[in-house]
Amino acid sequence: MSKYKNNILILFAHPALQKSRVNRHLITYVRNIEGVTFHDLYEAYPDFHIHIKKEQNLLEAHDIIVLHHPIFWFSTPAIIKEWFDLVLVHGWAFGREGRALQGKKMLSVISTGGRESLYQTKGFHGHTIGEFLYPIQQTARVCRMDYLPPFVVHGTHTLTPEEIGAYGREYQKIIAALRDGNIDLEKAREYPMINVHLKEILTAEENG
Ligand SMILES: Cc1cc2nc3c(=O)[nH]c(=O)nc-3n(C[C@H](O)[C@H](O)[C@H](O)COP(=O)(O)O)c2cc1C
Repeated sequence: MSKYKNNILILFAHPALQKSRVNRHLITYVRNIEGVTFHDLYEAYPDFHIHIKKEQNLLEAHDIIVLHHPIFWFSTPAIIKEWFDLVLVHGWAFGREGRALQGKKMLSVISTGGRESLYQTKGFHGHTIGEFLYPIQQTARVCRMDYLPPFVVHGTHTLTPEEIGAYGREYQKIIAALRDGNIDLEKAREYPMINVHLKEILTAEENG
């Protein structure tokens, strides 16, 4: 039995981490938190030969699943799609008998090159980032998971190192609060992103 309320699995995907400005730093804030398993999919499967049983065992052993990746073409990097297609099988993840993921929480942690102003109904991309994440949200729903509002870093190209650090600290706080159950999830669901009104959704213990 873990000493933490929730075990967290971070599934991270970035196909060119050596070129990353933002996510390379963000992961340093969470990869060594106790109670968190950090799993880099491109590192584990450079040839895309995903070990399905190993991935399913990992999912079963954790309460909260974090999908962390940059947005590529309004979607995920390819390995996450491959992972969904192979790992989330009928009779295990979904379907009448497929209840392995039931009740687990899913959190998307994403970064976009585009600024937030582009991700508006009347903006250049015509949709909010939450709308672009509908395939993930609905996948979670079909697997009877509880989908949380995403952690979003917009406008990566112009972020300063200080701003990236601030996002990293927020990410760290949210992961620790989710692990310890010190987050007001009902309040969080009132907002489109988990990282916009952080002080409001972290319970006193975590804010202190
Ligand atoms: C192949 C590719 C596709 C991309 N597609 C999008 C996109 O659809 N929307 C967007 O806002 N940014 C897009 N970007 C920008 C990335 O989201 C951005 O570079 C990334 O979030 C920055 O994180 P990093 O510094 O860790 O690489 C794309 C970048 C690449 C390389």
